[in-house]
Formats: sequence, structure tokens, C-alpha cells
Amino acid sequence: MIMFGNNFDKVAEYYNNNAHAQKIAAKRLIEILKGMGESNLQSILELGAGNGILSNLIKNNFDYENIISTDLAYNFLKFNGEPLKVQCNISKLPFKNQSFDNVISSSTLQWIDDLDKLLKEIKHVGKKSFKGAFSIFLKGTFYEMDKVSKLTGFGNILAMKESRYYLENFYKHGFNVDFCHEEKHTIFFDSVREFLNSHKRTGATVKAKKPTTKSNYNSFLKYYKKLFSIKNKIPVSYNIGYYIITKQAGK
Ligand SMILES: C[S@@+](CC[C@H](N)C(=O)[O-])C[C@H]1O[C@@H](n2cnc3c(N)ncnc32)[C@H](O)[C@@H]1O
Repeated sequence: MIMFGNNFDKVAEYYNNNAHAQKIAAKRLIEILKGMGESNLQSILELGAGNGILSNLIKNNFDYENIISTDLAYNFLKFNGEPLKVQCNISKLPFKNQSFDNVISSSTLQWIDDLDKLLKEIKHVGKKSFKGAFSIFLKGTFYEMDKVSKLTGFGNILAMKESRYYLENFYKHGFNVDFCHEEKHTIFFDSVREFLNSHKRTGATVKAKKPTTKSNYNSFLKYYKKLFSIKNKIPVSYNIGYYIITKQAGK
């Protein structure tokens, strides 16, 4: 098992029941591809496929030749029903030049520190006529948790980028952005505790900057509810970017 910063390997068995926002992101990405008239996807590489939420939707909505599912987390790939799976770091893809017609990824690219490296890899493995489709969590996701963490010292969120960052990098690396759309979603939980448990079980947690105490945990529960609850429900904001890209002519 490869060890890395987040907790995806540890939560694989709980992920599917808790990945509410990730399911929305994957579903919207499929709707966007269909809305653009896509019906046949050929040979597909999926980056950070997890247990296969996106690939299952691809299967039910498109004709295609084959899908190769990649992920760093061994335990996630164990739950992924695709026959072709490769455990690897997507910033160092073990595939030849121009191997794929499509590169797709949902809810993963926000975890990549070196986007330059990843985009070079995508360019390398994508055919000239390649099409990429990505959903990415953007700044604004976990807006409430970010505010209350800063106030109480409990918890921490992943530093996410604005849409502009991805657009600039796609162009810089020789891609055209054929479609981009930013969409906000709010999911409501019955309590802050329920949200924290569910969030933990998606693996998308980031180590707190300071050691956690019972007292700052209790303050977090109290202030999240006090500042943000709506009719006794606990809102959690997500901001998701959707991008369809192709290679610029001659690149
Ligand atoms: C939030 S999950 C999304 C999984 C799936 N795409 C979905 O829609 O449910 C993020 C996934 O990215 C994977 N991941 C994160 N960084 C990675 C990297 N550098 N290389 C490969 N996979 C990575 C994690 O292991 C995890 O399965």
C-alpha cells in the first residue's frame, strides 16, 4: 500500500455512502458531456477514479471502447469494478504518448499540487483529437467550515483554487477550453457532528494546523450552528468547476 497525505485509502469502504457532493459533480459532468452531443467516447483514461462513481455513469450513458481507471489508493481500486485498473500517481502516468482519446476525472484535480506536471502528462497521453472532461472542487467549497475553523482553531480545509487558475493553466499548456462552468451546491445535514462524520468518511480531510482539543471541537460545533444553521439544518457549501478541453491546433 502506498501512503500519502490524505485519508482516501482508509475510508474506501465508507466513501460511497458519504460522497454526496462527489456524486453531484460526476452526474453534472456526464450531463454536460451529453449536452454537448457526446455519445461515443472511445478509449478513456480516468484519473483518480476511486471506487468508480464516474466510470459507472460513463458506462450507463455512453458507448466506448475501454476505460482504464487509475488511482493512488489501493483500497479504493479494490472496490472499483472496472477490469482495467492501474495504481499510480496521476502526476506520473505510466502510459505511452497519444494513448487515449479521452481523459476524464471527477472530484480529484483539487488534490494535485503540481498542476503543471499533471497537465504535461495529460498532453502526453492524449491523442491529437483528444477531449478532456473534468470536475474540480474550487475555492468556496466548505466556506462555512473554513470560517468556523479559523474562529475556533478546530479543523482545516484543503486550500482550493479559483476557476481562473485552471483556465490559465489549461491555456498555458496548449489546451483550448471548449466549455467551462462554475456551480454552487449546498448540502444540508441534521447536525454539525453528522457533517463532520460524513466528511471524515469521504477521506477529504486535511490535518489541522494545531493539535485538536475537546474545547475547540465543542466551540466548532457551537459556532457553526450559531453562525450558519438555517431552520435547524446545517448547510455545507460546495463550489464545483466543470471543464471540457481539447488540444490547441499544432500542439
Ligand atoms: C474525492 S476522491 C474522487 C474519486 C472519484 N473520482 C469519485 O468521483 O468519487 C479523490 C480520489 O483521487 C485520488 N487521488 C488523489 N491524489 C492522487 C494522485 N496524486 N494520484 C492518483 N490518485 C489520486 C484519491 O485516492 C481518491 O480516490
